[in-house]
Amino acid sequence: MIRLDKFIADMGEGTRQEVKKYIRQGRVFVDGVPAKKPELKIDETKQKVFFDQREIRYRQFEYYMLNKPAGVVSATEDFADRTVIELIEERRRKDLFPVGRLDKDTEGLLLITNDGALAHRLLSPRHHVDKCYYARVEGIVTGEDKRRFLEGVNIGTQDMPEQTAPGKLEILAVDKQQGTSEILLTIQEGKYHQVKRMFETVGKKVCYLRRESMGSLMLDKDLKPGQYRRLTDEELKSL
Ligand code: URA
Repeated sequence: MIRLDKFIADMGEGTRQEVKKYIRQGRVFVDGVPAKKPELKIDETKQKVFFDQREIRYRQFEYYMLNKPAGVVSATEDFADRTVIELIEERRRKDLFPVGRLDKDTEGLLLITNDGALAHRLLSPRHHVDKCYYARVEGIVTGEDKRRFLEGVNIGTQDMPEQTAPGKLEILAVDKQQGTSEILLTIQEGKYHQVKRMFETVGKKVCYLRRESMGSLMLDKDLKPGQYRRLTDEELKSL
């Protein structure tokens, strides 16, 4: 059960104060009857709520897959830059957040939701969720790098070591003339700038980074950077 004003405000129709006004103005109907009391308790699974003749369906959680473009920040608010939340134009809930952070210049899969329990499961190191990244790297990536990543590398300093868990490195292509490589790296952690710092330990520089997957969730190839869609029921179930 949920208060009528909260029901309508949660679905993005206005602030609680605005919604209270709409209700008092008689613009809201519950099961065909005008509802004048903002504090009326609604069974959100059964009762039908109409606002200005439009049915408002209650959804507790929203789940969006975003192909994050470079240049926006993985935050809910920022005074200087556009945030990933602002890209989700059809968002209803005001409590959406990105599940984990990608750097401002990183592209790729970012889950946007207000489901805190799911976010915790995906991010907690205890749950060992694979995150796979595609990168273009300056330098020739070698079998030796693969071996070192598999052992874990120190992305901190000698005085303040920060050891990574094993990472699985796959070399997709090497351009000896240009001195560049394309790779996939799968890690289960999300330390600050982790992929970039792992490559720095082997003397190489990541020049393009994109997240391809997180657990069972794969970046939809039809989504261009900046585009998003709702998760399908199957994707949600498999998470
Ligand atoms: N590793 C990085 O270095 N940057 C990201 O955005 C994600 C992983």
